[in-house]
Amino acid sequence: MKHFQLPTGEKIPALGLGTYLSPPEKIERAILSALDAGYRHIDCAAIYGNEKHIGAVLKKAFNQYPRKDLWITSKLWCDAHKPEDVLPALTRTLEDLGLDYLDLYLIHWPVALKRGVELPETREDYLTLEEVPLRTTWRAMEDCADRGIVRNIGVSNFSTKKLTALLSTAAIPPAVNQIEMHPYQQQRVQVAFAKKHDITLTAYCPLGSVGEARTTRKGCTPPPLLKHPLIMTIAKKHGSTAAQVLIAWLLKQDIVAIPKSVTPERIQENFKGSELSLDANDMRVIAELDMGARIIDGKVFTLHNSPYTFENLWDGEC
Ligand SMILES: NC(=O)c1ccc[n+]([C@@H]2O[C@H](COP(=O)([O-])OP(=O)(O)OC[C@H]3O[C@@H](n4cnc5c(N)ncnc54)[C@H](OP(=O)(O)O)[C@@H]3O)[C@@H](O)[C@H]2O)c1
Repeated sequence: MKHFQLPTGEKIPALGLGTYLSPPEKIERAILSALDAGYRHIDCAAIYGNEKHIGAVLKKAFNQYPRKDLWITSKLWCDAHKPEDVLPALTRTLEDLGLDYLDLYLIHWPVALKRGVELPETREDYLTLEEVPLRTTWRAMEDCADRGIVRNIGVSNFSTKKLTALLSTAAIPPAVNQIEMHPYQQQRVQVAFAKKHDITLTAYCPLGSVGEARTTRKGCTPPPLLKHPLIMTIAKKHGSTAAQVLIAWLLKQDIVAIPKSVTPERIQENFKGSELSLDANDMRVIAELDMGARIIDGKVFTLHNSPYTFENLWDGEC
């Protein structure tokens, strides 16, 4: 399995298993089949509501797969951005996952919510970034890293503008930015920025997720990526599947991919995507598919007279 080296010298496996919307009753089979297939990286988050179930599976799995061989990521939810709330949130995640350290902890969104709010329903549920600046949340993340309970820290859904501001005050630079990335959302600005600043990108929704792209630069709704004729043609050429092409496309650019599945056959299929090598012509064809599409457009944070807007959330980087 390909790895990418982070500034701490640690190596993040290029392929991980996503767990958003993985129902508790399907988690055991999903994680165990992923480990059997060769995955060593699991992407979690407190807000997915399934960390306790994942923890129970990991406890069993450690008999066969030692903790040190696995890479576990989790994410700080928006309601714990106040510096005094970061360590308690991380402690809860560690307890739920049954771990004494995480390999990577991310600020899930550059959005602050009041303590206890999962998703905002009124203006009162929000805190502004003036009230809880990202740099103060980051300082608390750095404290967690200094304690050794997270080996690497990073962010998710941060524009390069927000990353630039963070880098100007950070004692520990963010190792990773986890963002939506697939052929309809190629994130060229982020890719160039990440190379320059030694930040590893992780692609979420690498298969186009289950939803349609809601926001596109071209104002149209594209067909599901897994059924795109050009992706299918490339897959046929290599004797592979569309999902494998989408995963190989990311890894070829040194981007971590975290496809989610709870279906053992698909989990194995996706793993084989990490062994597929696309050629320059395949990459040229896929490069043409970019349309600034977003499946996860953060709209949920822009409702109810929110201080957050589509514009200030993404800083115009689509
Ligand atoms: N940081 C963030 O804000 C953020 C946002 C979204 C997601 N994420 C992370 O990124 C992970 C991946 O994103 P995602 O779950 O939204 O989307 P995704 O991985 O692009 O797509 C998942 C969907 O594709 C299906 N699938 C998986 N493999 C397949 C295959 N080989 N053929 C056909 N269908 C296949 C899955 O179905 P089955 O499960 O039924 O097989 C599921 O419905 C998440 O699980 C989560 O860990 C992070």
